[in-house]
Amino acid sequence: MLFWCLLVVSISCLSLAFQGERRVPVTIAGIGKSIHAYWREVELGMKKGAQELKGCQVHWFVPPKEDVRVQVSTMESFIARGVDGIAIGPSNPEAIKSAVQVALKRGIKVITFDTDAPDSGRLLYVGTDNERAGFEAGKVMVQLLKGEGKVAICTGSLTALNSIQRMEGFRRALKGTKITVVEVYNDREDRASALSNAQAALQKYPDLKGFYGVYAFNGPACAEAVKMAGKAGKVVIVCFDATAEHLKLIREGVISATVAQRPYRMGYLASQILYQMVTEGVPSALKKWKMDRLPIEKRHLDTGIDVVTKEGLSSYRKRLLDLGIPVENW
Ligand code: BGC
Repeated sequence: MLFWCLLVVSISCLSLAFQGERRVPVTIAGIGKSIHAYWREVELGMKKGAQELKGCQVHWFVPPKEDVRVQVSTMESFIARGVDGIAIGPSNPEAIKSAVQVALKRGIKVITFDTDAPDSGRLLYVGTDNERAGFEAGKVMVQLLKGEGKVAICTGSLTALNSIQRMEGFRRALKGTKITVVEVYNDREDRASALSNAQAALQKYPDLKGFYGVYAFNGPACAEAVKMAGKAGKVVIVCFDATAEHLKLIREGVISATVAQRPYRMGYLASQILYQMVTEGVPSALKKWKMDRLPIEKRHLDTGIDVVTKEGLSSYRKRLLDLGIPVENW
């Protein structure tokens, strides 16, 4: 009798576990790239996305600054803890490849957000089309400099794909103009280095006409350096992201334009999609987002950008509200 009871109980447990891919609670992990307001927005979006789902828990991690090794070891420890899904913004796409493979083999769903690792086998990338976004930044620079002058590029990574693609897109827009890139500075997402790099550029190139700030740290750091050198408004700054700090500097006229990404949306969608992958299965989740017919490396859910200038601030705010993105920064 006891035997039959146990059998019935275990069969019903098994059938629950294998109903489609349904498994609740679902535990997902987010791994960002550095401590910054930008990543705080991704985190908020991810937690909000999870809150709206039944039984979805989020673990969140960001290293203080760019740290490939710690990103990989964190991913490995999430795998060891047996989470159901992981969203990572890899600072080096090559370095996370084997961890992604291990996770997938164990049935853990892995997607990238903010920056991609297309050859890792990850199931999907959620974020900006970085080459195109860099191209848009370049077009604005060309317009503002009337097609000539020296420009320095300040970035926070030489390995992350988003940084590489933003620089490529930017250079593509400069083709055929008389704008030259004098140097590329890397701060590895360290605030103090971002400032000292911008200062070094102003010192080394007294006739510098523009800064291209590739990461969220860079626009405000270039702005500070330019202000300290008494060149506010004289050296054009075109950068990325729209945190409270950026918006203030745009209002002041120190930053000329910024390519605003949608970090909150990246986080929100990451939760929703990972949850769908876990509970409904990968094919069904991909189909929902019309990604099922694309080759793996091309699966990209574009979260969109807005090029924001002082004149466009209020329409930008409205667009965020229309998208359901909180605008606490304003
Ligand atoms: C990038 C992130 C980066 C952040 C802070 C953003 O523009 O998309 O990859 O971590 O800036 O540096």
